[in-house]
Amino acid sequence: MYLFNSTVLVEPTNICNLKCVMCEARCTVEAGINDAEYMLPEQLDIALKKLKTYISNVVFQGDCEPTLNPYLPEIVKVAKKYTEQIAIVTNGVALTREKIDRLVENGVSWFALSIDDYREEKYNSIRKYSDFKRVMDNLDYLLKIRDTKKKYIYVVTHKIVFQEDKAEDLEEYINYFYLNKGVNKITFAPIVKAGNIENENWLLMRNNLENKLICRGIQINLKDFANYPYMSNHKYCGTNLFFISHEGNFAPCGLHTRDKKIFGNLFSDELDDIIKRKSFIEYHEYWYNRRFDSCVPEICKNCYLLRSPYFKYCLDDSYKSTNTIFENEQVKLHTK
Ligand SMILES: C[S@@+](CC[C@H](N)C(=O)[O-])C[C@H]1O[C@@H](n2cnc3c(N)ncnc32)[C@H](O)[C@@H]1O
Ligand code: SF4
Ligand code: SF4
Repeated sequence: MYLFNSTVLVEPTNICNLKCVMCEARCTVEAGINDAEYMLPEQLDIALKKLKTYISNVVFQGDCEPTLNPYLPEIVKVAKKYTEQIAIVTNGVALTREKIDRLVENGVSWFALSIDDYREEKYNSIRKYSDFKRVMDNLDYLLKIRDTKKKYIYVVTHKIVFQEDKAEDLEEYINYFYLNKGVNKITFAPIVKAGNIENENWLLMRNNLENKLICRGIQINLKDFANYPYMSNHKYCGTNLFFISHEGNFAPCGLHTRDKKIFGNLFSDELDDIIKRKSFIEYHEYWYNRRFDSCVPEICKNCYLLRSPYFKYCLDDSYKSTNTIFENEQVKLHTK
C-alpha cells in the first residue's frame, strides 16, 4: 500500500561547519557542536532493512553537512548493501583526498558540491567559514579520479540562484565549471527565503539561457532542480521520497522534520505500523490519486513549494484545483 521504489534521503548528523548567509537549516557551525548527534551505521541498517524492497538510491544530505559524521564511510558501506547508487550533497570543504578515496571505495558514485559562485571572493562571502581554494582542490581531485580511475563517478556543482544573479552570471558559472573544469552536470535552484521562492523570473531566465547555449552549440540540460537523482515511479509534488533524519524520523521530504511533521520513526517503529497511520495514508491518497480538488494533506500544509510555479513544472501535469490555497497563488512571470 503506497510503497514503491524511491530515493532515500539520509541526514547523517545535525551539525554543519559553515554558516552560509542564505541557509535556513537548523544546523550551522555557530550553533556549536556540543549537541552534535551522529547517525550510526547500525541505525541506518535498521532503517534501510525496513525499506529494503523499495530503495532505488540513497542520497546523503539534510539539514547538516554530511561529511562531518565521522562514521560516514561506514554508513556508506551500509547503504551499499541496499543500492548501487549512492550520492552525497556537500559543501565540500571538509573533504580531503583520503576521505574522498574512502567514500569512493565504499560506494559513493555521485558527488554534488554546493558551490554558489565561480568567483572566490563572492563565494567566500556567501559561504561563511568556507574556503574556495580548498573546495576547488577537492573538486579537481574528484574530477581526476573520475578521469583516471572511476569513469562512472558523476561530479556535479550546484548553485543557488540569488535575486541579484543575472543570466550572464549563470553563463559564466557554466563556462567555469561545465566547459572549463568539465563537471558532469550543473544544477541550479532558486533561493528560498522565509519559506518563499522569490525569484519569479527564474524559469524564464533559465529557459532563455538554455536556448542561448544551444545556439552556441552547447547542449546542457539545466532543467533538473535537485542536485542529485531523485527517483520514483510516481510523480508526487516533485520531491517525494523517503527522508530519514539523523534521529530516525521518517517523512516524505526534508522539509517536515523542521516542524516535526513526520510519519514516524524508522529506528523504533515498524514500517507496517507507520503505513497504517492517518498522516501516511492521507499524504499518499492525495498525491498518488491526484486529488487536487481536495485539501492538501496536513503534512504538506504551508509548504513553500506549493506556492511556487515549480511544483507544477515538476509534476508534468496540468494542475486543476478548486483548492483556494492554489487559486490564490497565481503564477506571475514578469518580462522586462
Ligand atoms: C541544507 S544543504 C545540506 C548539504 C550541505 N551542507 C551543502 O551545503 O551542500 C542542502 C542544499 O540546500 C541548499 N540551500 C541552502 N540554503 C538554501 C536556500 N535558502 N535556498 C535554496 N537552497 C538552499 C544548499 O546550497 C545545498 O545545496
Ligand atoms: S553548508 Fe549547507 S547546511 Fe551548512 S550552512 Fe551552508 S547550506 Fe546550510
Ligand atoms: S508538497 Fe512540500 S511538504 Fe509536501 S512532500 Fe512535497 S516538498 Fe514536502
